[in-house]
Amino acid sequence: MQPKIIADLLYLFLIIIINLQFRITLNNIKMKNYIILFFSLLVFFSCEENSTNEINIYSKRHYQVDIKQYENFEKITGIKVNVIKAGDDELLERLKNEGKNSPADLFVTVDAGKLQKGVEMGLFQKINSELINSNVSDDLKDVNGFWIPITYRARLLVYSNERVNKSELSTYEDLASDKWRGRLLVRSSSNAYNQALMSSLYANLGEEAILDWSSGVVANFARDPKGNDRDQVKAIAAGQGDIAIVNSYYIGLLLSSEKQSEVDAGKSVSVFFPNQGKSQRGTHINISGFAMTKNAPNKENAMKLLEYLTGVEAQNTYVNNSYEYPANPRVKPSNLVQSWGDFKRDDLDLNALGIFREDAIKIFDKTGWK
Ligand SMILES: [Fe+2]
Repeated sequence: MQPKIIADLLYLFLIIIINLQFRITLNNIKMKNYIILFFSLLVFFSCEENSTNEINIYSKRHYQVDIKQYENFEKITGIKVNVIKAGDDELLERLKNEGKNSPADLFVTVDAGKLQKGVEMGLFQKINSELINSNVSDDLKDVNGFWIPITYRARLLVYSNERVNKSELSTYEDLASDKWRGRLLVRSSSNAYNQALMSSLYANLGEEAILDWSSGVVANFARDPKGNDRDQVKAIAAGQGDIAIVNSYYIGLLLSSEKQSEVDAGKSVSVFFPNQGKSQRGTHINISGFAMTKNAPNKENAMKLLEYLTGVEAQNTYVNNSYEYPANPRVKPSNLVQSWGDFKRDDLDLNALGIFREDAIKIFDKTGWK
């Protein structure tokens, strides 16, 4: 039976007892008080059980490290973390339909744009925590306070060690240049990582410039977009193209894979951070972040989890297992990621990745980026 139903039944029983007490006799007032106290405590603990020992997360994240984080948190606090995984649009729609009855406390995804979308849909409440605020870098935060970052990733370039010289690479803009004709690999435009990249270009360069840019990039494709980010690296290893646009952590995941073919693919490329020149804006990044649902039934627990995940211990777990960058500046990236060197990140307001998404999708459609 649900704890809430038990609590309701006990409460009903309590009311009946009180009434009976009044009707039959009020002689033994002490006894009556004990009965009331006993049932009040029972009701209190039944309710407490319902709202203090768990957290429900709707998650778009698909990484092994998350299971580890939630298990560690459970060991420390005794709070059970339940996760429902699905696509972010699907989860946002579910939150909207469930409304006040949603069991979800937190929504986590890998794109600030989707968090911004949830904010626009009115699904979240602000997160006020001094600790979280001091845990994460200022430029990764939501300026409106509705979501918090846990990690970030660079959408960077990788190039064939055999067929490309590092000095040939410079900016995202340069990917439209003729010298890359038939050599560029990238996944489809339906992917959120590419939509966020295009949104950042839209926000930074404007519609006209990126229409030209996107046409040039499409003309340089080594093949029609297909597969995920790892598949683009594997295609370079197989000689199907020479450079690719991928998220940074996938290189770490390939190099630490149990499959030798994936390790070999990772070794066949080098990492390059575009737009690092003095007057240039920096490499496009995106965060992975959490939002608190508007009616989070376990808000206090959820806040504890967010404080834990942005703290030093959990941040170290992220960087050493998923090869993402830490949102907490007191934590260093994994040794492998550090070996790529520091880079300047594009400091565009990350909400722009959601605000310009529809415009970005139109650019893909107009320029034939499948
Ligand atoms: Fe990913």
